[in-house]
Amino acid sequence: MRADIVPTGRPVISATGLFTPEESISNEELVASFNLYSERYNAENAAAIAAGELDAMQPSSVEFIEKASGIKARHVMTKASVLDPAIMAPRIEERGDEELSILAEIGVAAARDALRRAGREPSDVDAVLCAASNMQRPYPAMAIEIQQALGIEGFAFDMNVACSSATFGIQTAADYIRAGNARSVLVISPEITSGHLNWRDRDSHFIFGDVATAVLVEDAALAPESHWDILGTRLKTVFSNNIRNNFGFLNRAHPETAETPDKLFVQEGRKVFKEVVPMVAQMIVEEAERLSIDPRKLRRLWLHQANAGMNRLIAQRVLGHEADEDESPTVLDTYGNTSSAGSIIAFHQHSEDLQPGEAGLICSFGAGYSAGTVFVRKAG
Ligand code: COA
Repeated sequence: MRADIVPTGRPVISATGLFTPEESISNEELVASFNLYSERYNAENAAAIAAGELDAMQPSSVEFIEKASGIKARHVMTKASVLDPAIMAPRIEERGDEELSILAEIGVAAARDALRRAGREPSDVDAVLCAASNMQRPYPAMAIEIQQALGIEGFAFDMNVACSSATFGIQTAADYIRAGNARSVLVISPEITSGHLNWRDRDSHFIFGDVATAVLVEDAALAPESHWDILGTRLKTVFSNNIRNNFGFLNRAHPETAETPDKLFVQEGRKVFKEVVPMVAQMIVEEAERLSIDPRKLRRLWLHQANAGMNRLIAQRVLGHEADEDESPTVLDTYGNTSSAGSIIAFHQHSEDLQPGEAGLICSFGAGYSAGTVFVRKAG
């Protein structure tokens, strides 16, 4: 990067990047596998079920999944093992310490996509934040491995704010730019959510999908001609047990056994829906007011992709009318809930048509509870 560029302290989004796993599971395939598993479970436990000691498992349904969530399919790193009723979990071969780990690999792929779109070399980047729901290991940080794999100098660290990790990462990166501590920061969200989803749980087995995204946040002085001004960022957290995962180094019980479902993702979906919608809608409207933006005039909302109904309600409260696909695009149907990456995929895939001067909102929400807003305006 040219040394003579004088930083402005104004953060922008220069580009985004996406890695999508090749394999995808349709609702039909998923439900067929789940129902085979539940039939086997009921047959194996027939005596206990007949004696009233165990509840029989109920079948899942394609219609329910699509109606309740809007999800039609999800990408995964390993399809065969997830659909195998005897496994129902990802099977990713463990790699040696000298090999690039899988989470870093997909993060690097997304980062290279973002760098290419911005016309940047890795040597132009000052910092890497790996912001995701689940890290592959506690240390060394995934972000440092990604930094090394890309050949970036400077510093890197991991941060986890569940589904809001990417927007928290964008604000952190923006703050580095504002403070002059960095001029170019990669925020990378590799989400192998299939590893923490309980594929045997009827209430949630359809929710998640795997993906990786990257966001290049830079000082306006070095941004490519076409970029997004960051008008303002806001973060919020309120403690809740309604989305929880107890897996950790103090309680390592094997996550795939039926005895330890709390070591995987669990949620009270109804409560999450009811509590998070008003919290997020209010946060967006208040932040828009603070930034002197009329929320009803926002050209597009790139919302967190957890549930189509939640997004419909939030968009309605923000825009003052029912949003169409153009105003609030959905990627949930083909990607499922990709945790922190969801709103970034929506932005990545549905932002090129906006005209200079048009403003929109990237917004995430999820476990914690946590929520983040990033108001942006197309420049160039
Ligand atoms: N197949 C068929 N029926 C199912 C089912 C399945 N896979 N899972 C649950 N059902 C049934 C339930 O047994 C229940 O039946 P009942 O009414 O006879 O008791 C009925 O469907 C409704 O279940 P419920 O869990 O209340 O569904 P819901 O409409 O709340 O939808 C979610 C469930 C999870 C899709 C929805 O609550 C949601 O998306 N919430 C927000 C989640 C979220 O954003 N989480 C953040 C994750 S990071």
